[in-house]
Amino acid sequence: MKVGGQHFRTIWLKADDDDVVQLIDQRFLPHRFVIEEVTTVEQMAIAIREMHVRGAGLIGASAGFGMYLAALGAREKDSLDQHLDVAAKQLAATRPTAVNLAWAIERQLTSIAEGKTAREKIAIALNTAKQIAEEDAEHCRRIGEHGLHLISQIARKKAGKPVNVLTHCNAGWLAFVDYGSALAPIYAAHDNGLAVHVWIDETRPRNQGSKLTAWELGQHGVPHTLIADNTGGHLMQRGEVDLVIVGTDRTTYTGDVANKIGTYLKALAAKDNQIPFYVALPSSSFDWKIRDGLEIPIEERGADEVKHADGWLDGRHVEVHVAPEDSPAANYGFDVTPRRLVTGLITERGVCNADEKSILELFPEHSP
Ligand code: MRU
Repeated sequence: MKVGGQHFRTIWLKADDDDVVQLIDQRFLPHRFVIEEVTTVEQMAIAIREMHVRGAGLIGASAGFGMYLAALGAREKDSLDQHLDVAAKQLAATRPTAVNLAWAIERQLTSIAEGKTAREKIAIALNTAKQIAEEDAEHCRRIGEHGLHLISQIARKKAGKPVNVLTHCNAGWLAFVDYGSALAPIYAAHDNGLAVHVWIDETRPRNQGSKLTAWELGQHGVPHTLIADNTGGHLMQRGEVDLVIVGTDRTTYTGDVANKIGTYLKALAAKDNQIPFYVALPSSSFDWKIRDGLEIPIEERGADEVKHADGWLDGRHVEVHVAPEDSPAANYGFDVTPRRLVTGLITERGVCNADEKSILELFPEHSP
């Protein structure tokens, strides 16, 4: 997608130097556009854990490149396989909820095992990392096409008035390699001349809505309005929301959806107001093993994120207290929206119901 008119992806290999991975360091957005260079798996693990990169698809792509850097770093060592095992564990431990992380690491380990020499293994790891990134972008592009039909249907009924879409957190191109999941249909609609307007939940405590979604929609010229997290229900009661589209960090093959904390409450409000609630995801975000969404591991983060607010002042990053210093705080990163509240899933293969039968009809290769 475009930043200041120039096309960017969120992660890529440095031109003319395959030993360096470059990525947009999202901690500085929207105030500064910083590109970080990563050359070791240790640095990549930090980038994922400390959220320089975040969002399910991008976490997966970063892990793919991380495994390649691990192979590269062990090229002089006899124990390349052992080194890769350690790297896989190190990357897998960075964040627990987005299933794309384990999926990408597993894919790398399976592919690399085909190589006989260190040189072959490194070449395979490089190709696999590139493939994971390419596929992520292509799948998100197709999600945009499928989701466009849903928005067009609503647009026809609104006779030129903007279609109001509510979204939570950031499931745009910054959360993937390109295009995004929840925002891909919105970009497709906007690019096709449909009037769309996006309500963006600020998404406390990390504010991915205010910092990232607002920034990327603004860069693309999509009309949007930031709202405090608890505003959605009010807007829905007043007919100001036509459709909700969110992303997901992990969705079970039965249709239960883990996404950024607060998503469940939006789904409940949407149900009460008969507003369609869609979840957009590439197939890499399905968990083909877990049946019940409540078994999905939920990341718990530091209390400071809840007790503090942060931003930029005179070109400096500042953090301020918003709570009594001695009050305990809990910080659950994600919640699970049960399938009964989900109108449909928008995938790269099309839109389906959030239930086991429909999901496996679309992805029969995962049938038992
Ligand atoms: O903690 P984050 O920023 O990595 O959270 C993940 C997300 O961006 C959201 O939960 C998103 O809606 C789904 S991931 C595309």
